Amino acid sequence: AGLHAAAVAKGKVYFGSATDNGELTDAAYLAQLSNKEDFGQITPGNAQKWDSIEPTQGTFSYTKGDVIADLAAKNDQKLRCHTLVWHSQLPSWVSSGTWTNETLIAAMKNHITNVVTHYKGKCYAWDVVNEALNEDGTYRTNIFYQTIGEAYLPIAFATAAAADPDVKLYYNDYNIESSGSKSTGAQRIIKLVQQYGAKIDGVGLQAHLIVGSTPSQSAQATNLAAFAALGVDIAYTELDIRMTLPSTAALLAQQATDYKNTVAACVANTKCIGVTIWDYTDKYSWVPSVFSGQGAALPWDENLAKKPAYEAILSAL
Ligand code: XIL
Repeated sequence: AGLHAAAVAKGKVYFGSATDNGELTDAAYLAQLSNKEDFGQITPGNAQKWDSIEPTQGTFSYTKGDVIADLAAKNDQKLRCHTLVWHSQLPSWVSSGTWTNETLIAAMKNHITNVVTHYKGKCYAWDVVNEALNEDGTYRTNIFYQTIGEAYLPIAFATAAAADPDVKLYYNDYNIESSGSKSTGAQRIIKLVQQYGAKIDGVGLQAHLIVGSTPSQSAQATNLAAFAALGVDIAYTELDIRMTLPSTAALLAQQATDYKNTVAACVANTKCIGVTIWDYTDKYSWVPSVFSGQGAALPWDENLAKKPAYEAILSAL
């Protein structure tokens, strides 16, 4: 049995992977991505971001996102939809527009309503708001916060829920995989949305982690318990564990331990419903392009061969 089959046997909803449109012409890559023993869920890495779907105001382009949604349907895999409101990969008409509270709320609602309606019935979950927090747990200064204030968060969730009452709605962020100011900030956002009377179903822990600095299983368990106490589901949504290159046997062994601890923390908490890795092969990882000198972050190497992390994850499931 593979990763998804083992996750389901443990009562989880899925084990999955991100993917991206440009990778799908790689036949060997596509075959492994489509192997439902390992992956019962996929996430589009870029195709559903604001700059991809609504590059100019009121013009919606679903071609790339639909390719990933159709692939998920063909392979009987769940789709995590990503993401509606985010400061990054945001077209300049939004980020540099001249807005009032009223006009930006209207533009945000129009975007959310169009996109969620288009994908209605196709997504298991939406990452409604992505990365709203600074490292100290305060709100990140972005056009939405600057113009609307913290109300943009509950307004976004309420708008998504109105467009599709059945899809699960998540707040998603990184560096919230262990207790601390930023995790506390994410808990504050969940309570804010709940108090506003809007639906929030889950929190996504991106989990872009570092070999040798990954929080221990018990530190992750404590953190998961704090989210679970708020009544929401939890998912690891973008897991990868990077190292300073070159990769060595010792680093690969530590990476395997770090993957095992992370997946084991999810397995041990009944509110943690699934784990998604941010693509599955080092061939297509986002890490080397963003973190200079780092990489080898995924369980399959650049030749699509399984690394020690694969068996470690399987042993935690
Ligand atoms: C990354 C993609 O993987 C890259 O291809 C793109 O160039 C930048 O974005 N947090 C997120 C993801 O929520 O959307 C990001 O994806 C990685 C960090």
